[in-house]
Amino acid sequence: MELSGTKTRRKFVQTGAAALAGLGLESRLRARSVETLAVNGGAKAVTYPPGPHAAISKWPRYGPSEKKALHDMIDSGKFYEELPILEKEWREYLNVPYAKPHMNGSSALTSMYFALDLPPGSEIMVPSYTFFATCLAMRFFGYVPIFIDIDPKTACFDLDDAKRKLTPRTRALCVMHSWGLPCEMDHISAFAREKGLILLEDAAHAHGASMQGKKMGAWGAMGIFSFQTSKPMPAIEGGMGMYQTREYYERAAAFGHYEDPVKFPADSPVRKYEGTGFGQKYRMHPFAAAVARQQLRSLDERNLQVAKLVRLMNNRITQLPGIFEPRCRPDQQRVYYNANMLLLDEAKCGFKRGQLLKALQAEGVRASIWDYPEQHKLYIYSEAKWWHHPPVIPERMPGNEHVNATHIFLPLFYGESPELMDQYGKAFEKVWAHRAEVARL
Ligand SMILES: Cc1ncc(COP(=O)(O)O)c(C=O)c1O
Repeated sequence: MELSGTKTRRKFVQTGAAALAGLGLESRLRARSVETLAVNGGAKAVTYPPGPHAAISKWPRYGPSEKKALHDMIDSGKFYEELPILEKEWREYLNVPYAKPHMNGSSALTSMYFALDLPPGSEIMVPSYTFFATCLAMRFFGYVPIFIDIDPKTACFDLDDAKRKLTPRTRALCVMHSWGLPCEMDHISAFAREKGLILLEDAAHAHGASMQGKKMGAWGAMGIFSFQTSKPMPAIEGGMGMYQTREYYERAAAFGHYEDPVKFPADSPVRKYEGTGFGQKYRMHPFAAAVARQQLRSLDERNLQVAKLVRLMNNRITQLPGIFEPRCRPDQQRVYYNANMLLLDEAKCGFKRGQLLKALQAEGVRASIWDYPEQHKLYIYSEAKWWHHPPVIPERMPGNEHVNATHIFLPLFYGESPELMDQYGKAFEKVWAHRAEVARL
């Protein structure tokens, strides 16, 4: 999709900007050093009109196919038929033997922990850098979280920290693929196998991401996705569970789907719970299933488009000293959830993150920061009455702190606009060309 407007702008892209971008970094920085920073009264580097600028990074993105699917459903009067179709399509997409749509990612997590069927007091390793439901949903079954740090270079599960925190009561571990970057599933799987731990995945950020050809959500004995509005496959609310065994599938499905047990084979251990399941009602709204099915059809294409534009942007700005991408191995195909997260080394940048943000925002770059609330610091984990035995609250989690303190977010672009991309590159180079001045802001 070409969102840039006028002929003049196109011409600029083809001539001036392209010529400048073709120069070496040093020459580009020299060219920009004669300009005045916008924060000090100079002209903004990003002059792209605000409307199209907002439109290109608008999320979620729905079109005629989602509208038609919803209209068709309303007109047909058939609603629940959509759920098994989505289930089948998702199973095929992920290449897993069993899947179950749930009302959201949180209810998929609760069902997953129910399906584990471990003795109360079992400990499950989880990142503290995650959404509350990854850690808290286990509470209902008497399990206790062991908070694991993240690797400061990836914002994903730190296996070394997990090795240090293993206890005789540890029975499972649940990883979370932060912002669409796969955790190192080969090493983590090997560790889980060696220690006899059940591997679980919170893949709420990572729809379509894969490693060594295997999709996230298909590595663990069980896993979940969220289809909430902000996610890479948004259905406003919705979730999905993946199960590698029939036993896990039937237990997880029966927990919040009272109509399922009767459909299971006669030898199913949960068949006798027909009519009630296990007391919850977690059925996905059929409207969400209709939207999810449409979003699934274009998921890979969207992921590829976003990744292509991130690559173009990051190839240029990570040439600047002190700004880099989270590490992604060549055998990992990451996707991007919510933002293009970059990490800063302030010493190499020569200025503080706050000063950079001020300078970039003045230039018109929609840069931001957002600290993931560290779960272990939240009140509920310290109140003993909610837990079989009190979780150990780590004094510090250096990986979490590092990522929260050093990241910046750039918007994801969902449409082609060489001009806007060039202006972002120019803004970064302009700021870096004035590093001493930025350090005084
Ligand atoms: C990492 C993670 N896990 C689980 C969830 C829960 O998903 P939902 O909002 O669909 O309940 C979210 C949602 O934000 C999430 O980010």
